[in-house]
Formats: sequence, structure tokens, C-alpha cells
Amino acid sequence: MPFDSLRPKVKTILANDNETTAQRMTEICELLQTSIGYYDWVGFYFANEEARTLHLKAFAGEPTDHTVIPFGKGICGQVAVSNENFVVPDVKAQNNYIACSMYVKAEIVIPLFKDGKNIGQIDIDSHTENPFSPEDEKFLTWVNDQVSQVL
Ligand code: SME
Repeated sequence: MPFDSLRPKVKTILANDNETTAQRMTEICELLQTSIGYYDWVGFYFANEEARTLHLKAFAGEPTDHTVIPFGKGICGQVAVSNENFVVPDVKAQNNYIACSMYVKAEIVIPLFKDGKNIGQIDIDSHTENPFSPEDEKFLTWVNDQVSQVL
């Protein structure tokens, strides 16, 4: 797993005050998507609490139609209300799932907390079936903690 070698790179990207937070988040998406073979799409969604919708702020991979997702809808929308990690080894087994691409077999969504509040999430789609382990959850939780510090 390249997770340990990615941590200093994530820190370097986030420390670059010359770029907007959206640019830095896009670079983190690109870093993860290109470094981890089974991360085929990586994106950050952020919540609009009043509208109860999630909005795509940064991503790497194929563009998606699903740039706005209502709370409760799909894996992402469920995490917006549950505040819990959601690991999906096989998307076909999910009823409440929004398909972004016919190639996606698995998905992981980890909430992003700022001052204890669930304000967004990182979402990874994989073309590999059942690729995610607790190590992915641990690493992505760490990534979100790092991102929350620059928000
Ligand atoms: N599959 C997600 C929608 C977002 S795309 O994966 C980019 C879901 O069910 O919430």
C-alpha cells in the first residue's frame, strides 16, 4: 500500500497557500486517483445545509452528471445524514445507489468533519470489485482531517 508515501505529498499540496482550497483539493484527488490503482474516480462533495444538498467541489477521473446530490440519495446522500463511513464492496447489492458509470463496481464514502460537524465527504469509485479495506478507511479519514484544517 502506498498510503504512507502519500501522506507527505498530501501535506505538501495542502500547505500551498498560493492556490485556492478547491485547487488543492483537485490536486489531492489527482494524486490519489493516479497513485492507487483501484481508485478510478475521486471527489470531494460539500453540504449546503439549508438546501440539504451535496455539491461536487473537486474531482479526478471522468466528469460526472451528479454534481448535486440531495441528502439521503445514493451512497453520498446517505453519508450526509448518517455521519458514518460507507464502504460498498458491490454497488449492485445497493438499492439506494446513484450510478455514475457502468464500470463502477465498488464505492467508499468517508465523511469530512470540521469542528465536529459533518460538512462534506470524500467519495471514491472503483472498477475493481471489493477492493477497500480498513486501511483505506483509515487513510481517507486522515486525508479528510488534513483537508478540514485548511477550510
Ligand atoms: N455513486 C454515488 C454518486 C456519486 S458518483 O459516484 C460520482 C452515490 O451513490 O451517491
